[in-house]
Amino acid sequence: MSKSATKPAEGKLGVLVVGLGAVTTTFMTGVLMARKGLAKPVGSMTQYDKIRVGKGNDKKYLMYKDVVSMASLDDIVFGAWDVYPANAYESAINAEVLKEKDINPVKDELEAIKPMTAAFDRNYAKRLDGDNVKTVKDRWDMVEQLREDIRSFKANTGVNRCVVLWAASTEVYVPVNEKVHYKLADLEAAMKADDKENIAPSMCYAYAALAEGCPFIMGAPNTTVDIPAMWELAEKTGMPIAGKDFKTGQTLVKSGFAPIIGTRMLGLSGWFSTNILGNRDGLVLDEPANFRTKEVSKLSTLESILVPEEQPDLYSNYYHKVRINYYPPRNDNKEGWDNIDIFGWMGYPMQIKINFLCRDSILAAPLCLDLVLLSDLAARAGRHGIQRFLSFFLKSPMHDYTVDEVPVNHLFQQYTMLKNAIREMGGYEADEEID
Ligand SMILES: NC(=O)c1ccc[n+]([C@@H]2O[C@H](COP(=O)([O-])OP(=O)(O)OC[C@H]3O[C@@H](n4cnc5c(N)ncnc54)[C@H](O)[C@@H]3O)[C@@H](O)[C@H]2O)c1
Repeated sequence: MSKSATKPAEGKLGVLVVGLGAVTTTFMTGVLMARKGLAKPVGSMTQYDKIRVGKGNDKKYLMYKDVVSMASLDDIVFGAWDVYPANAYESAINAEVLKEKDINPVKDELEAIKPMTAAFDRNYAKRLDGDNVKTVKDRWDMVEQLREDIRSFKANTGVNRCVVLWAASTEVYVPVNEKVHYKLADLEAAMKADDKENIAPSMCYAYAALAEGCPFIMGAPNTTVDIPAMWELAEKTGMPIAGKDFKTGQTLVKSGFAPIIGTRMLGLSGWFSTNILGNRDGLVLDEPANFRTKEVSKLSTLESILVPEEQPDLYSNYYHKVRINYYPPRNDNKEGWDNIDIFGWMGYPMQIKINFLCRDSILAAPLCLDLVLLSDLAARAGRHGIQRFLSFFLKSPMHDYTVDEVPVNHLFQQYTMLKNAIREMGGYEADEEID
């Protein structure tokens, strides 16, 4: 029998989402439908995957919930913030991801999820003009109001624990500024001084969540928790953080496919990735400053899998380009093309083409569920700060760049990290046996 120091998942789990858009309404609808037995949570590791624990004659393959105590779908209570006042039902209909027949059976529950006013600054997402927005004195006031929202949500719903998940629009790119973002005291001073340039609204949500004892997950590529000042806050409050940018379509393919090239010692001369996307996310990303945030995140994946310094003959000079094009007719049904120029024996060139016709929110929804449940687990296991075992779900995993730590982008190495963390939290030994 295992011995785990992880606290059991007792009572209800509050899931507060920032952004009540395509991804989060698809996530919520799926959870509520699955609860009624009307849909299956396909793509979710926590609901389907089995991990081997023990070795030899003692080995067993168990669901995560049988390795360690996990919150169940029935435990979840949703809340949200958004710039627009539409409730989760209206927003799910507007998003046009799911058919009405898959939304209507949970209409009442979705209608009850009404967004709280958003902490928003239009300079961070110029294409949005909703008016369900807080009136604030400064960034510190933004934090205070969000903290009050979290406290009221807890009091009104009686939840035992809460997780805050950002799946709102991508903000404009905020470069890391050592004077503001490295020390918690400097970050707090900048919030009090209303430094709008260095303090994104998302940082106020993250600060409020951690200060209220809630793990925080960044699903967009924003800088937000990816700064030492937030790591300090996470240590101080004993809270886990995870980010950034859900690894859904093209980057999932990239982090799973690049290892084929790297493992067989084939060369790479170029990788061109392009997408067409027509939802509101695509509209926001059509703004160059917002796309810059996404581009930085998408570009980081290859370099740590096919490392030029380790194999200069194979990877020293490859050209890597990523583009997203806003194309309304496709709405949430993104189409991605990858053209990969590789070379083999004696340098002879070859090409690989991948055409992925995916559904953005259908791929992102199970990641929301897994990141929420696993962050709650990490908090109960007493893990705080950056949760590297969650890199599996993220395009641009957080890592301590101040000490030159390298992120792990290789999908199968990330999977090993995920399984081992769950084994450890369940009181089993970490290992790398072949299953
Ligand atoms: N779907 C995917 O495959 C995928 C993958 C990686 C990352 N993401 C990211 O997830 C996020 C959500 O994507 P989506 O398709 O649901 O977008 P969406 O535009 O449908 O929804 C985002 C919502 O966030 C709201 N919002 C913006 N700023 C806010 C703020 N400060 N406070 C509260 N609400 C705010 C908007 O009003 C909007 O309703 C985006 O940042 C996107 O880049 C999505």
